[in-house]
Amino acid sequence: MEQYAVRGGVHLVGEVEIGGAKNAALGILAGALMADEIVEIENVPDLSDTNIMIDALKSLGAYVEKVDRHTVRINGSTVTSSVLDNDGIKKIRGSYYFAGALLGKYHEAEVALPGGCNIGSRPVDQHIKGFRALGADVEIEHGCLVCSAKKLEGSHIYLDVVSVGATINVMLASVLADGQTYIENAAKEPHVVDVANFLNSMGASIKGAGTDVIRIKGVSKLHGAHYSIIPDQIEAGTFMLAAAITKGDVLIKNVIPKHLESITSKLKEIGCDVNEEDDTIRVMASRPFRHTQVKTLPYPGFPTDMQPQIVVALGLAEGTSIVTESIFENRFRYVDELTRLGANIRVEGNTAIIEGVSKYTGANIVAPDLRAGAALVVAGLAAEGVTVVDDIFYVERGYEDFVEKLRNLGADIEKIESPRDLQKFRLHAV
Ligand code: UD1
Repeated sequence: MEQYAVRGGVHLVGEVEIGGAKNAALGILAGALMADEIVEIENVPDLSDTNIMIDALKSLGAYVEKVDRHTVRINGSTVTSSVLDNDGIKKIRGSYYFAGALLGKYHEAEVALPGGCNIGSRPVDQHIKGFRALGADVEIEHGCLVCSAKKLEGSHIYLDVVSVGATINVMLASVLADGQTYIENAAKEPHVVDVANFLNSMGASIKGAGTDVIRIKGVSKLHGAHYSIIPDQIEAGTFMLAAAITKGDVLIKNVIPKHLESITSKLKEIGCDVNEEDDTIRVMASRPFRHTQVKTLPYPGFPTDMQPQIVVALGLAEGTSIVTESIFENRFRYVDELTRLGANIRVEGNTAIIEGVSKYTGANIVAPDLRAGAALVVAGLAAEGVTVVDDIFYVERGYEDFVEKLRNLGADIEKIESPRDLQKFRLHAV
């Protein structure tokens, strides 16, 4: 079983390049099958989640060519099936975008219900409500979302909760529908805007992405395109926090600073220096952190996917900090693991009350999900001694070359496969 072995105590220093946004890539890869011409997508992160999406496209019969590590060419004209039900697809969240894309193009889709991280109950009722409003019949049968429609007609859809997934899925299903669709109370995340821009580059007519109301005027078909995915907000944010927590000085390249404002502002609040340029952000930390309060909210609020990372930082701040999770009800499962490193955190409902400690000390811990896994690795980087992190496949779902990027910044981290590897790592750590 693969693990990360981390020896803490190094201040991360240097430069790191951020890859394409995973959550945009998932919507874009599914949407690419909607044209019967070649769609070339650049800056696709090379991750297990995106590779599962690429395999799914192949299994549907789409032409898929990997031009290089981050560029994929897809042509949907050869698609022969609208059914996706395999073990890989069940493991990831973004699989549900195939329901929207297949329903939108072929008026039928049968897609296994999505998996993804266990961070709370993750219903798909708003996706279903949107598809039904467009005129589709939608049932859940044998663990699959089964959708069909004689025709799809534009509609007014009010989302009861601000949902990234439902917003993107309804966009996908409605771009080829007859007439106008309005998605109200839409999610405004950068990846929602990126999927809309991508679909527009294929000839769709989507306006208002990035605001509460998205207007989609149905078009008769989509054409080939060439598109480059935006940088990953959460990968960038994770490296910002890694720089801060290790009291380092890191220049994070290929980012959109605007997407990182909520994170930048919290880092400044706790005492870090953050400098923004056009497409870089530099995080420097040398002073003890001050305590603060954080509440996760839909964009442009503080992202739920950055909640574990900020908790790791606040665990080392002076005084008492409060972090409230308002998106997912079960997103503090990692706190027990952080406690093994010496954190003093009490969770009450959706709130973590954090009494700062002066240091973490290394221990054996388990990654409970993707973002918490990354946060625990970063905690290990700041801890005294060796930390061993299990279940790292979670982390690898969302961070390309995580170990290499951290090592380039001076981190002492290795991916290990056996007790012997760990012994070697521990010896070299002495
Ligand atoms: C996406 C991201 C995930 C991120 C989350 C919030 C992907 C693959 N994952 O997840 O990393 O943490 O956005 O930014 O892009 N909800 C419903 N009914 C629905 C859909 C959602 O009640 O039909 C609720 C969810 O339970 C949650 C909230 O809405 O409480 C937000 O969920 P949503 O934005 O849909 O998250 P995901 O798209 O699953």
